[in-house]
Amino acid sequence: MMRVFDEAGQLSDAATAFIASCAEQAVKERGEFHWLLCGGSTPRRIYRLLAGNPYGGRTFWWRTHFYWGDERCVPPTDPRSNYYLARESLLDLIGTPDSQIHRMPADVPDKEAAGAVCEAILPAKADLVLLGMGEEGHTASIFPHSPVIDETRRQVMHVVAPEYAVPRDRLTVTPPVLRAARQVLVLAEGEKKAEALEKVFRPGGDVHETPARLVRDAVWFVDRAAARLVLKMNLGGMVQVHTE
Ligand code: 6PG
Repeated sequence: MMRVFDEAGQLSDAATAFIASCAEQAVKERGEFHWLLCGGSTPRRIYRLLAGNPYGGRTFWWRTHFYWGDERCVPPTDPRSNYYLARESLLDLIGTPDSQIHRMPADVPDKEAAGAVCEAILPAKADLVLLGMGEEGHTASIFPHSPVIDETRRQVMHVVAPEYAVPRDRLTVTPPVLRAARQVLVLAEGEKKAEALEKVFRPGGDVHETPARLVRDAVWFVDRAAARLVLKMNLGGMVQVHTE
């Protein structure tokens, strides 16, 4: 399902409400909410909205466990880390206890071992995985032509990203984690994402070229600029366009 919003502010508001309702429902049905976060500029705005009124004081946060779908191999105090981003824009603001924060230990010297440690940390089934998409169609830290795309056994892998994605050393969840999740929400904003989005939804496209195709059946929240090409395709009832 794809929801297209006129502008980025509407997209952030809708994504914030969507995440809060996933949390509420998970806590109601299963007592806990297990959420895998991502990095990027769109999530930062959403995290801040979740920390503010009316969401910041909601009781579902007491039962929310936070994980990451990918992480840059830098210390947790490094502003480039996805952990740091979430801490300063959400977790510290809502006062999440450390026992509910399960960061990827991506800064240890043995990255292969870190992958195995992450597997032990991750929930068996995430309630929600939040993802972004890069301009060339990567998602989490699964880049075009990466061996991670075909992984069926491991849940977290160390990758060296292409030169344009710094820092290049990263840990990422693999397709089995994405497939096991109860819900996956993908965010894409801006004209620069339009071609990649078209490649995700193009019939007969190649997942190795556009890894975000791994999650084409997820819920997609995109703005009109990113949806420019996809809106010309015949995707039928799967696209909902929201205008003011
Ligand atoms: C990361 C992300 C990555 C990101 C996309 C989109 O750590 O870099 O997890 O997959 O979501 O690159 O990023 P933007 O929202 O900044 O465009």
